[in-house]
Amino acid sequence: MRFDVLTLFPEIFDGYLGSSVLKLAVQRGLVEVHRHNLRDWAVDRHRSVDDRPFGGGPGMVLRADVVVPCVETVRRQTGDAGRLVLLTPQGRRFDQRIAEELASHERIVLLCGRYEGFDERIREILEPDEISIGDFVLNGGETAAMVIIDTVIRLVPDVLGDDQSSREDSFSTENRWLECAQYTRPRTFRGLEVPPVLLGGNHEEIARWRQQDSRTRTEQRRADLLGPDN
Ligand code: ADE
Repeated sequence: MRFDVLTLFPEIFDGYLGSSVLKLAVQRGLVEVHRHNLRDWAVDRHRSVDDRPFGGGPGMVLRADVVVPCVETVRRQTGDAGRLVLLTPQGRRFDQRIAEELASHERIVLLCGRYEGFDERIREILEPDEISIGDFVLNGGETAAMVIIDTVIRLVPDVLGDDQSSREDSFSTENRWLECAQYTRPRTFRGLEVPPVLLGGNHEEIARWRQQDSRTRTEQRRADLLGPDN
């Protein structure tokens, strides 16, 4: 699976790209992440990518004559133009279902904004899938793009080891419940014991306990996840 990230700050991704699951997935050839600096598409001698809004007001607006050609060129670089995602607090709210949908694409192009927003003609011309990661305003779409990449790569076959399958992650189509409580050594810590059932070795009992714990947690913390037929 291939991600192309269009941003004014490609270096923000350095640390993330070099660590953990993503680094391994890239090394194993399962995932590619290509970064493109929007400034390389600037058309004037000052290399400006943004300008003051017509009509006045605070902040700066990303220019359509920079962003649109950049997106078009990047999308033409391979035979598959990919799914174009624009990160914005005005988009549909990201969740596991949308992650599953995105994971079905071979290529995703992520357009990150900064400043006050995008010239509206960028939306009109490119008709992107607009996605928000929540009802709050970030300084830019870069961290949102990382959230999306991080969630989607878990769903790419072979990125996680067998023992880490994402199929039953909370919020997925296959599991609407929160994960149950987990414990590891030591058995006693500051007077708190591990539930004895987890130490008993009876796999059926353990499975029953875990299911019950998942259910109770979900009821207590996120009753909204339990539909009428759960
Ligand atoms: N850019 C700024 N805020 C954002 C958000 N909440 N989600 C996605 N992109 C954003």
